Amino acid sequence: MRALLLTLMTVIFFSPAAQAGDAEKGAKTYRKCVSCHMVGPKAKNRVGPQLNAIIGREIASIDGYKYSKGMIAYAGEQKVWTEENLAAYLAAPRKVVKGTRMSFAGLRKETDRDNVIAYLKQASQ
Ligand code: HEC
Repeated sequence: MRALLLTLMTVIFFSPAAQAGDAEKGAKTYRKCVSCHMVGPKAKNRVGPQLNAIIGREIASIDGYKYSKGMIAYAGEQKVWTEENLAAYLAAPRKVVKGTRMSFAGLRKETDRDNVIAYLKQASQ
């Protein structure tokens, strides 16, 4: 019985779901993005493009939004936004996408990046 409990606890503790971001906390982190980006049913482009269904969305694909040459070049390398490349972009926008117009210093904490990505997924539904 003890062994079973231990195994169960290990599985729960180390499962990937336990490390996924917290959308509620991500809503707070998103305040750093909101001056430039909208998300949700009525989202429009602002300074930056709207962010609906961003995970799995083609990079630089919003019609009528004028992306930088840097972002268009990045789209040639990466195609779609994944949790991995988006987290990297949010950590250091100008390092990951050379010449990006997104003037944002970056989210230094990994938990902030995971949380804001979880929020974006939830808010686009
Ligand atoms: C000062 C304004 C500003 C802030 C703050 C900002 N962004 Fe951006 N964002 C932009 C601009 C401008 C672009 C277009 C970049 C380009 O074309 O190089 C962009 C592009 C993006 C893209 C690529 C979208 C696409 O269609 O390929 C994502 C994803 C993104 N931002 C997420 C975020 C998140 C998440 C935050 C907050 C943590 C954030 N941004 C904060 C201005 C901003």
